[in-house]
Amino acid sequence: MNHTLARRPFLALGALSLAALAVAGLSLPGSAFAVVNSVKVGAILPLTGQTANFGQDTLNGLKLALEKDTSMPKVELVVEDTLGTPAGSATAVNKLISTDKVSVIIGEVASSNTIAASAPAQNAKIPLMTHASTNDSITKGKDFISRICFIDSFQGEVMAKFAKGELKAKTAVILVDSDSDYSRGLRDSFKAAFTKEGGKVVEEISYSQKDTDFKAQLMKVRKEKPDVVFLPGYYTQVGAILRQSAELKIKSKYLGTDGWSGEDLFKIAGPASAGHYVSNHFVADDKDPKVQAFAKEYQAKYGKVPSDMAALGYDAAYFIKNAVRTADSSDPTKIKDAINGTKNFQGITGTISLDANRNAIKSAVVTKTTTTGFVFHARVNP
Ligand code: PHE
Repeated sequence: MNHTLARRPFLALGALSLAALAVAGLSLPGSAFAVVNSVKVGAILPLTGQTANFGQDTLNGLKLALEKDTSMPKVELVVEDTLGTPAGSATAVNKLISTDKVSVIIGEVASSNTIAASAPAQNAKIPLMTHASTNDSITKGKDFISRICFIDSFQGEVMAKFAKGELKAKTAVILVDSDSDYSRGLRDSFKAAFTKEGGKVVEEISYSQKDTDFKAQLMKVRKEKPDVVFLPGYYTQVGAILRQSAELKIKSKYLGTDGWSGEDLFKIAGPASAGHYVSNHFVADDKDPKVQAFAKEYQAKYGKVPSDMAALGYDAAYFIKNAVRTADSSDPTKIKDAINGTKNFQGITGTISLDANRNAIKSAVVTKTTTTGFVFHARVNP
């Protein structure tokens, strides 16, 4: 559909109703003057592969929001599976831009995938807003790339301070996913903050996303007996690592990050999934009334507790609609400007204000794992 043509009558109508309101002495909140009637939004998500939980949960959140919010603009969502890989993410973004001609794109989840998708989006001047990729480098020097989640220099520091302050940990081993920009970035930020707090990182050990047997790495952990093991990884490998760690009777506490939050972690690790501390964007048992309302709706629709990924997907849909409304246009550059200028957007995952580097300044939650999921432990503000 031709957006420009479709918009014209609505523009006229918008101007008319504005004038009518002015005459009547009424005022409306700024975002209520939506004149653009529809917008094509792309989403690049890992619907299959090792991080499929992330893609499925995001899509659940997006759909819940789009079904619920029937206000203008109407969103035509085009979803592409990235297979959870950098190459698949670049292909997906190129297809959405050249074939579907979307105005704006949401995604990916894993930082390495978003990095691969960001160059083609920036070059084509189509805004790419990631709801979940936290690696610091993602938005740097790319004005069409933004995010509504916190970044890893914050997340690593949250867990380092938690380890030192609350757990009184003196020593840490870091297990690093060498295939992931996310994991490497968190290793660096955790290490810097933990060392600054007076702790000592006694060893850094790498694993690969292709690994299924982590015994060699875990034997080293067992030998070091650190107070904590910092494990910034994704749930498929983390689940296996926790299970094998318990088999080796390792007593150290594990500290995790947002990449742990796939429901398969609990299936893979079984009883070994309980008792660890993890940083997340959201947790469903948070007392905040808007979290409770969302969790109830999500549970009713999908029959399960929403993950932070689901909440980020939900926020992404509202956030993008808000930006299109502010831009008053389906023009990608105008939407980019509206996204980048967003302040105090009230989301389920917190209040979202984008800074000069197009990163969201937001709080994190520290959660504790049970055998089935995450429970609230503390909220940490930036
Ligand atoms: N932050 C992770 C990354 O950048 C992705 C993620 C976010 C995973 C939230 C789970 C929950 O790779």
